[in-house]
Amino acid sequence: MNGTPVNRIRFARAARRIVAATWVATAGWLSFGSQAADTTDPLALCKKLFTQGTTPACALCHTLKDAGSAGAVGPVLDELKPDASRVANALRNGLGSMPSYKATLTEAQIDALARYVAAASGGGQ
Ligand code: HEC
Repeated sequence: MNGTPVNRIRFARAARRIVAATWVATAGWLSFGSQAADTTDPLALCKKLFTQGTTPACALCHTLKDAGSAGAVGPVLDELKPDASRVANALRNGLGSMPSYKATLTEAQIDALARYVAAASGGGQ
């Protein structure tokens, strides 16, 4: 559930990092492994990766209805409707004030997240 105190704490911490403009993700912040272990559903895993599995979390900056996020720093993904390669490119290289996730996500995670965002936003493959 997104509304648990633990999640709120994680989001608050991430938000503070953003305010401090420290985009550098540290290994200690990568809590995705333990979070993901409780489900094997690929869609749920991708959603979780989007809402809380990356540092900083996509959901902090992006609105994506399917994931229930309302971030307003970056483009609304439901409107942008990026295809998977466009998402993957942004994740690998960063874009403007969006950080690169190359050092903190595996290629498999980038690929899964890219396909999820494309499908969830209506951007196709
Ligand atoms: C710190 C805020 C922030 C976070 C966190 C963030 N983004 Fe972004 N994102 C942005 C901004 C700002 C842009 C627009 C950059 C520009 O066009 O200059 C953007 C652009 C994008 C784009 C559009 C790329 C394009 O080619 O136009 C996609 C797709 C995207 N982000 C997906 C994600 C995903 C998936 C995550 C999580 C892994 C994420 N973002 C995390 C701020 C963020």
